[in-house]
Amino acid sequence: MTGRRRTDTAVAVVGAGPAGLMLSHLLAREGIDSVVVDHRSRREIELTARAGILEADSVALLVDSGVSDRVLREGSVHEGIALRFGGASHRIDFRELVDATVTLYPQTDVFVDLADARERDGGDVRFDVADTEVVDVTGDRPGVLFTDAAGVECEVRARVVVGADGSRSTCRSLVPETLREQVVREYPYAWFGILCDAPPSAPELVYARSERGFALVSQRTASVQRLYFECDPDEDVDAWPDERIWAELQARVAGDDGFALREGPVTDKAVLRFRSSVCEPMRYGTLLLAGDAAHTVPPTGAKGLNLALADVRGLAEVVAAALGAGDLDILDRYAPRALERVWRAQHFSYWLTSLLHRTPGGSEFDARRQLAELRSVVASEAGRRYLAEGYTGRFAGL
Ligand code: PHB
Repeated sequence: MTGRRRTDTAVAVVGAGPAGLMLSHLLAREGIDSVVVDHRSRREIELTARAGILEADSVALLVDSGVSDRVLREGSVHEGIALRFGGASHRIDFRELVDATVTLYPQTDVFVDLADARERDGGDVRFDVADTEVVDVTGDRPGVLFTDAAGVECEVRARVVVGADGSRSTCRSLVPETLREQVVREYPYAWFGILCDAPPSAPELVYARSERGFALVSQRTASVQRLYFECDPDEDVDAWPDERIWAELQARVAGDDGFALREGPVTDKAVLRFRSSVCEPMRYGTLLLAGDAAHTVPPTGAKGLNLALADVRGLAEVVAAALGAGDLDILDRYAPRALERVWRAQHFSYWLTSLLHRTPGGSEFDARRQLAELRSVVASEAGRRYLAEGYTGRFAGL
């Protein structure tokens, strides 16, 4: 390992998405140094379209940690959503039901704010690195080896390594298979996601169940919409010219109330596959996993980013306590707390997904039972509150 340019730090973080950057930012506020590496360029991360709903606790974390007040200026506060089925919309009023709101603020913007904050504060974030290898996680000086953007071979040595490297995490595979338990739930459908140049079709997000499958009407700006519809995981994007996309989306939201989508040129389209997964343990030696590296959820409840931020909020506290006391056993406090929220969100995301999607080959019984469940949820205040608690992240008892 001679010849590598060495940096010594307290925490090495693999992955410069929102989880990795927020962790680095929170640690800096505790006076703890870190180095963050990512094989992607900053531009590449910025151009990846991701979900856009922040729970109030996530907004509070951004604001309280001084990342940016941009989320307060530019984020749009939503006090509810519409559930649409049988050709009519039913509002779930978060403010009235659980006295909470959510904020529409795309993950890309959260990333930009965090990357800017790290740069402003002199954080050590290396984008565009290659050949990343995490070593010695069972020793007391674990390391991350990589080649930086300029082609220099580097070595970061730390007390703790955090794998925040997303759903295809390589850090996760360092947990020996004999110890690793990954529980997974696959879904027989995916989402076809588009961006289009048209103003919002509705004031709030519309989650629509139809005989043709699920559709979601979301927004980005006053002139850009984000829309999704359920599709086959192997769907070919090229088979979907704009006219076909609009016909499908309009059919899925149509109803006696005359609701229709505002159409405009489609500027981005992609098939987004998803699954529910949880990997345990979240700690192996001096390696800890956070965000999508440890767990993924279907996008229906928009929980992915919120869970990642909740993970690193807890993780920053635990790492600070462990390093402060010189006692790495304290790291064991991280996973149980994180997993409590993760599993509540897993259930919620699964439930909302199965409440609204059409299972290919599903029976008539399934379809009618699903409609009855939707009617129960919207007709009962308890049902609406249950949905509102989950959507806003106010899980009862947490
Ligand atoms: C989005 O705007 O991209 C979005 C919103 C809500 C979801 C998923 C995605 O549940």
